[in-house]
Order: sequence, then C-alpha cells, then structure tokens
Amino acid sequence: MNESSKFWAVVPAAGVGKRMQSDRPKQYLELAGKAVIEQTLTRLLGADVFSAIAVAITVEDPYWPELAMSRHPRIVTAPGGKERADSVLSALKSLRDRADDNDWVLVHDAARPCIASEDIHKLIDTLADDEVGGILALSSHDTLKDVEDDTIVGTLDRRRIWRALTPQMFRYGMLKAALVEAEGNPSITDEASALELKGFKPKIVEGRPDNLKITRPEDLALATFYLEQQATR
Ligand code: CTP
Ligand code: MG
Repeated sequence: MNESSKFWAVVPAAGVGKRMQSDRPKQYLELAGKAVIEQTLTRLLGADVFSAIAVAITVEDPYWPELAMSRHPRIVTAPGGKERADSVLSALKSLRDRADDNDWVLVHDAARPCIASEDIHKLIDTLADDEVGGILALSSHDTLKDVEDDTIVGTLDRRRIWRALTPQMFRYGMLKAALVEAEGNPSITDEASALELKGFKPKIVEGRPDNLKITRPEDLALATFYLEQQATR
C-alpha cells in the first residue's frame, strides 16, 4: 500500500425512506437511544481510520442540524442529490480540495447502523494493495430461483450470487470519474456498478450478516437486537 494514502468516508443520507413509511426519513428514526445516522457515524468515527466523513444531506433537511454530530470536526456536510449516486458524487466533490486521486474512499449507507469496526478493517486490510477496490458482500444461504411472472424458469448457481453491502471501497479519483460518467444512468445502484460499467473488476470481501440496511419497519427491531448482541461480545 502507498503509505501516504488517506482514507475518507462518504455517507449518503439524503433518501426519503419511502419503504419505511414513517413520519420522517429513516436515518432520523430512533435506534437504541440515538438517531440511526448517529449510530452509523459513531461506528465510522470509532473505526479510527478516516481523515473526514462527508455526509450527503437533503438541502433544508430540518433534522440534521438538530444533531450535535452535524458540527463534529471530522464530519462535513454536502448537498444530497436526486438519486443515491448523485448524493455520493456530491459528497465526493465536497472533499475535492483535501482528497488525492489515489486516496481510498469508503462509501457507506447511513441506513446501515450495525456496521462492525471489524468489517471496516477487514475490507481495508484485504483490499489495501488492490488496483481497483471492492465491497463487502454476503453469500446467499437460500436456493435462488430465476422467475418470470410467478413461474420458475431456472435455478441460479448460489455460489456465484452475492448480495452487495456497504462499505464499498474505491480510489477517490477513479470512483469520482466513474460516477460522473454514469450520471443519470438508473442501473447504477451502488458504487461497484459504476466501476463495472467502466470495465473494472471490483472484489468482494465477505461481510457480517448483521450489517443490515434498515429498509422496512420491521428492520428497526432487528437492528436493535443486533446492536445489543454486538455490545455483549
Ligand atoms: N440516499 C441518498 N440520496 C438519495 C437516495 C438515497 O443519499 N437520493 C441514501 C439513503 O439515505 C440511504 C442510502 O442512500 O442511506 C441507501 O438508500 P435506500 O436504502 O434506498 O434509502 P431511501 O432511498 O431513503 O429509501 P427508499 O428507497 O425506501 O425510499
Ligand atoms: Mg432508495
């Protein structure tokens, strides 16, 4: 690894949380005594590797300024965008005067508050010498079916299918260029897909199954349980 490479975190937090059906965006719901996004940022700060964390927040979001973390010296705020990829790009741009093209960026969803420090370090340690970078991912325990109109048309090879998690770790310059090029492309739902579109081959690093993305109402109880379990380890 280039010893002078720094690490930056980017946290997209400008979604509306439609599937959560709550009165506010899910990153501001309470989870184990804090807002979801505070839990997430606490984990990232605690990993003790990031020079700064750039958080993409909806313009005029009334909840973010209420949190003390919005004024944390290692946290910078960038305006969110229409899609997740736009928010990530905006946060990357907010680091442009400080980040070198060769530095690593770990993009992590605000809605994944159970990220373990162990997994952040596993991703970094595994990929530190990689040309491209990669992502945390989960294998599938279930048999996977290819389905058309409620009818099974095939069974997929489970060993080849992985669920993409975050953090996703790429070089600052390479990731920014890939996202600029992919702007407006609806098939870019994570950072890896923007790099794949450019012909790069990101790696996967097996992550912990408790790194869930809070998506639906029942996920809050599960996340509470995971945080409790992690605290007793
Ligand atoms: N996100 C973002 N900017 C957007 C859309 C999403 O920064 N325009 C963020 C979300 O805040 C979340 C992460 O990207 O932390 C993952 O997105 P997702 O789980 O889909 O969150 P939402 O888009 O808020 O939820 P939904 O799709 O149910 O509306
Ligand atoms: Mg969404």
